[in-house]
Amino acid sequence: SVVLLWLFILLLFFFIRVRRPKNFPPGPRPLPILGNLLQLDPVNPLKNLEGLKRRYGNVFSLYIGSRPAVVLNGLEVVREALVTRAAEYAGRPTHMMVSHLFKGKGIVMANYGSSWRDHRRFALTTLRNFGLGKRSMEERILEEVSHICTELESSAGGSMDPQHLFHLAASNIICSLIFGERFEYDDPVILTLIQRLEEFTKEAIGPWAMLYEIMPVLRPLPLPFRNVFHKFDQMKEHIKKVVTKHKSSRVAGEPRDLLDCYLDQIDKTADGGSTFNDTQMVSLLLDLFIAGTDTTSNTLRSAMLYLMTNQHVQDRCHREIAEVLEGRADASFEDRHAMPYVQATIHEAQRMSDTVPLSVFHTTCSNTQIHSYQLPQGTTVIPNLSSVLHEEGQWKFPHEFNPENFLNEVGEFVKPEAFLPFSAGSRVCLGEGLARMELFLVLVTLLRRYRFVWPEDGGVPDFSLIFGGTQSPKPYRLGVRLRSSEELPTVSTREP
Ligand code: HEM
Repeated sequence: SVVLLWLFILLLFFFIRVRRPKNFPPGPRPLPILGNLLQLDPVNPLKNLEGLKRRYGNVFSLYIGSRPAVVLNGLEVVREALVTRAAEYAGRPTHMMVSHLFKGKGIVMANYGSSWRDHRRFALTTLRNFGLGKRSMEERILEEVSHICTELESSAGGSMDPQHLFHLAASNIICSLIFGERFEYDDPVILTLIQRLEEFTKEAIGPWAMLYEIMPVLRPLPLPFRNVFHKFDQMKEHIKKVVTKHKSSRVAGEPRDLLDCYLDQIDKTADGGSTFNDTQMVSLLLDLFIAGTDTTSNTLRSAMLYLMTNQHVQDRCHREIAEVLEGRADASFEDRHAMPYVQATIHEAQRMSDTVPLSVFHTTCSNTQIHSYQLPQGTTVIPNLSSVLHEEGQWKFPHEFNPENFLNEVGEFVKPEAFLPFSAGSRVCLGEGLARMELFLVLVTLLRRYRFVWPEDGGVPDFSLIFGGTQSPKPYRLGVRLRSSEELPTVSTREP
């Protein structure tokens, strides 16, 4: 009977054809249950997607298990869906493990609707400084930058692995904005939270998460994906404790941070019908913490890798920074307008760092179309941002690091339309403003003060990225050299 069972399964695989809906984008033939998963390299499916794009065109479909997903490639198609037809493509999947973890609450995995809209508007407005208390976003970032400098000072003349430092710094900036406090780099609370986050982000989209998605019958079993739920709960518990502490120390109407602003918002809208409540608040805080940590820190690490290995670019940045900031203690985000080459370099580093290659998956909110294809409501849509960031015809040098990609003939900074690391349309990254300010202030301050070199014993630099929801460069050591006194700022950088 075992043999018969296997024969039956084999027959199922070879003779049952999964049929694409009518007028649906083409794609490789899927197997029952697994769909096209076996055709995707779990270590780096981006190369497979590139191959499928060459075969089927810029819009093709894939089966993830038994569900079809449409992959959008290249600027034209991504823009048509996310910008021209924004409202039709603004949904989020409800069947994935991350969807079940967030239960549609917060912002990132919330479906297109009033709660998502209210929370997105609230977070954007609050982060843009209306109500973050006395200290602006810029001040909070600069405070963290001074701590990074102090930390790097101890490695001057030697080398260090920047992974942990950048991770903690990015997380501190978010913590300062949402909880009003930063943590020392050896504080066990933040170290544990960061560790949970690292494990969580790896596992929530890893092979077990895939199994969870494609085989719902396995979900009640005590398999490793239960761990992800456990870690998620631990992070939530941590946030709840911070909320309790805040509630006992807050003065209504005098917010110290985003959390206080949210509590004020609950008070203001307590007369019913509001989407603001304690459960949504915890999800929103978690969203911002998760979305704002890895993304920025991995981009910073990629930027450093390219800067270390392109000394001429680094030196030109340093000269521009020194000239613009002469006699001043700190950089300000406004200075970017006077620093075209630095701007071009940071954008180019971000393009090459390709941090969120497949965006966050979308779904169609109604029956819609793309090119000549029809997509039913509820179709999963994967915007391949990586394909846009390296699209031939959109960039002077699509496959190599070269700040000239962002400079015109007279050396002015220009941002090509294909620069979409934050995606586009109504779900465009909510933290874009914050991330851009962080990248600018951190990199300008560091490049002003230090020269970064590839350590002699560092082997051959490896620019390949570790694929994930958020991509990261492989671990490396950063050689840190203090710039000679005549190259240093005349006024020392701010003290922590
Ligand atoms: C969404 C990229 C930093 C908060 C996204 C998306 C991308 C992205 C590609 C998906 C957009 C879509 O669904 O079409 C990045 C990159 C960053 C970065 C490359 C850094 C270099 C941040 C930061 C925050 C943040 C610092 C924290 C405030 C969010 C949120 C969403 C989001 C809340 C969900 C928006 C929504 O669904 O409406 N980000 N992000 N991100 N990001 Fe970022």
